[in-house]
Amino acid sequence: MVAKTMEDLVSLCKRRGFIFQSNDIYGGTKGLYDYGPMGVELKNNLKHSWWKSMVYERDDVEGLDAAILSAPEVFRMSGHEDTFSDPLVDCRSCKSRWRADQLQNNLCPNCKSKDLTDPRPFNLMFKTAIGPVDDGKSFAYLRPETCQQIFTNFKNILDSTSRTVPFGIAQIGKAFRNEITPRNFIFRVREFEQMELEFFVEPEKAEEWHKYWINKRLEWWKIQGISSDNIKLLNIEKEELSHYSKATVDIMYNFPHGEEELEGIANRSDFDLGSHTKNQQDFSINSKVIKNDKSTTKLGVQNLDDKKWYIPHVIEPSAGVDRGVLAILNEAYKEENIQDNNSRIVLSLQSHLSPIKAAIIPLKKNAEKLVNLSKKIKTNLQKVGLGRVMLENSGNIGKNYRRHDEIGTPICITVDFETLDDNSVTVRDRDTMEQKRISIDNLINYYTDYFN
Ligand code: GAP
Repeated sequence: MVAKTMEDLVSLCKRRGFIFQSNDIYGGTKGLYDYGPMGVELKNNLKHSWWKSMVYERDDVEGLDAAILSAPEVFRMSGHEDTFSDPLVDCRSCKSRWRADQLQNNLCPNCKSKDLTDPRPFNLMFKTAIGPVDDGKSFAYLRPETCQQIFTNFKNILDSTSRTVPFGIAQIGKAFRNEITPRNFIFRVREFEQMELEFFVEPEKAEEWHKYWINKRLEWWKIQGISSDNIKLLNIEKEELSHYSKATVDIMYNFPHGEEELEGIANRSDFDLGSHTKNQQDFSINSKVIKNDKSTTKLGVQNLDDKKWYIPHVIEPSAGVDRGVLAILNEAYKEENIQDNNSRIVLSLQSHLSPIKAAIIPLKKNAEKLVNLSKKIKTNLQKVGLGRVMLENSGNIGKNYRRHDEIGTPICITVDFETLDDNSVTVRDRDTMEQKRISIDNLINYYTDYFN
C-alpha cells in the first residue's frame, strides 16, 4: 500500500465527481467548493447518519432547520460582534493579508518580507443587506455557527413539544466565515456545514453530560470508519477557550496536512440562554453576558423539585460536515497492488456512507434483453430505499469495476448471457474482489442483509 497525500484525495475527488473548486470556469474562488454527484451522496449519507444517531435513535432530542440570515441582535448578544475575529496583518511589500497566528518567523508567506503591519482584529462574519434599500442600517449576518438559532428557538421548541431538561435540539446546516486564509482543500473554507447538538442540562449535571457526549461522539466517528489511531482528544487551555466556553475538548484528527480539529465538544454553561433571555436580572447567571434589553422572551425553566426558575446549561458537540467528509475520504482511500503487477485505487467506505450502494452492469452495451433485465433489477433494489443504485450501460466491465472501486460502491452486479438461462447474476465485492453467482430471486435479501 502506498501512502496517500492531500493531492491524491483532491485528484480523486475531481476525477470521480466528489468535489470541485467553486466557480471553476471563472478561475475559481478560494475557500469555496461544490459537491458533485458522488460528493452530494456521501455528504447526505454522513448527515443522515448523524441525524439518525442524534434524533431518531434517542428519545431526548428534537430537530430544527432555522434560517441562515440572522438579525444583528442575535450575534450582538452572542458576543460574536465583539469577539469573533482573527488577528490580521498586512504585508506592506506585496499587499497580501495573513492571519498573524499562522505566520512562521514573522515573515510574509507570499514574498518573505518582514515589513508587516501590527495585528488588528478582523471580524469573520459576512453581512448582507435585507430589503430593497441598502443603507447599511438594515442588514443581516450570515450565521457563522448554526447553534444561535437553536438558542433563539429554545422557548418555541419547549412550548411545542413539552420537553423537560435534560433534552437537546439538533440542527444541520450551512455556516459562513470570512476566513482570512482558507486552505487545505475542504478543511478550512468560507462556506461549510455544521452538525450541532445543543443539549440543555441542569447546572450541577453539566460536567457529567460533557463527559457523556465526548464518549458518544468518539463512538460515532468510529462507526463512520475513523480509526482510533488517527484520533486524539485535546483539552483546550483556559486562555484558548472561545468566549462562550467554560471547557472544551476537541476531537483532533490526523488529516493529510496534519493533526487538526474535527469536532469540538464544549460546555457552554449558561452563556447562551443567559445572553438571549429577557429579564436577565431574574436569574443568577454565572457567565459574563452582554446586557440584553431587546429580547422579548424569558429562556429559563422551572426546577420541578424546588419550583425555582433557572437558566439551563448547554453541552454542545459541534462537528464540521466538510471536515468529516475529508477525514472519511482519507481513511477510506487505498492504493493496492493486485494480481499481475496491477494496482487499483479503492475507497473502502463504510457501506452506509457509499454514494452508490450497488451498480448493475449489463455485460454488453445495448444488448436489449440484458439491459431490460438490469433495469428491472435496478428498480427493485432502488425500491428497498437504502440509497442510490446505478445502472451502468457502458459495456466495459473492467472500466466499470475500476470506477466503482474508486467511488466506493460496495457491490457490483453483472447481468450476462448466462443470466438469461439460469436467472442468476455475478456479484462482486469491492473490498475482497470476490465474485459469486446469486439467484435473482435471492438478490433483494442478499442486498438488504449486506447493508444491515
Ligand atoms: N458552535 C460552536 C462552533 O461553531 P467551532 O469550533 O468554531 O465551534 C465547530 O466550529 C466545527 O465546525 C469545527 O470543529 C469544524 O469541524 C467546523 N468548522 C469551523 N470552521 C470551519 C471552516 N472554516 N471550514 C470548515 N469547517 C469548519
